[in-house]
Amino acid sequence: MNFTIEAATKADIPAIAAILNDAVLNSVAAWREAPVTEEEITAWFEGRTRDFAVLVAKGGDGAVLGYASYGPFRAYSGYRQTVEHSVYVRGDVRGRGIGTSLLARLVERARSQGLHVMVGALEAGNTASLKLHAAHGFVETARMPEVGRKFGRWLTLVFVQKIL
Ligand SMILES: CC(C)(COP(=O)(O)OP(=O)(O)OC[C@H]1O[C@@H](n2cnc3c(N)ncnc32)[C@H](O)[C@@H]1OP(=O)(O)O)[C@@H](O)C(=O)NCCC(=O)NCCS
Repeated sequence: MNFTIEAATKADIPAIAAILNDAVLNSVAAWREAPVTEEEITAWFEGRTRDFAVLVAKGGDGAVLGYASYGPFRAYSGYRQTVEHSVYVRGDVRGRGIGTSLLARLVERARSQGLHVMVGALEAGNTASLKLHAAHGFVETARMPEVGRKFGRWLTLVFVQKIL
């Protein structure tokens, strides 16, 4: 499939919000129930592009097919070289290598920013994400049973990490 990976711009915010909100409303990939508002995603985008990174995958027609980003892992200064990231691909174009390319570029970006560790927080049943991260050298470092709840069931959190 023909796509490029680039730094996201403000014009990409609505498409990023649509991809995230689809995951919020229809999956347990994102552990929140209310869709993100325009105000929330705009504040998120501005903070992330200023201090961290937001990448998008774009198809030949310029449509946003997926995005990847990282931000703080924990608020204390001792954690400043560790980030927590996420990758989301539009539902109709999954399984075509977009997540793989986004994560590879995000890892490169994190290295170039002098970061030391990337952490992913995944739902234990998310096979695609577990496979994607394993393929990029992320290893499981924690498994926390039933710390989340959505759609009336308990969710288990798996932390994976990669030392850059
Ligand atoms: C997880 C996600 C980002 C992967 O992106 P993608 O573009 O579909 O993935 P790719 O095509 O690059 O494939 C990555 C790996 O996942 C595997 N995979 C993809 N879809 C899969 C599925 N439905 N079931 C099982 N494995 C799957 C692929 O086989 C591939 O592994 P391989 O290299 O060993 O063959 C994407 O499925 C997604 O956006 N899911 C919803 C949001 C989410 O869960 N995000 C992660 C939260 S951190």
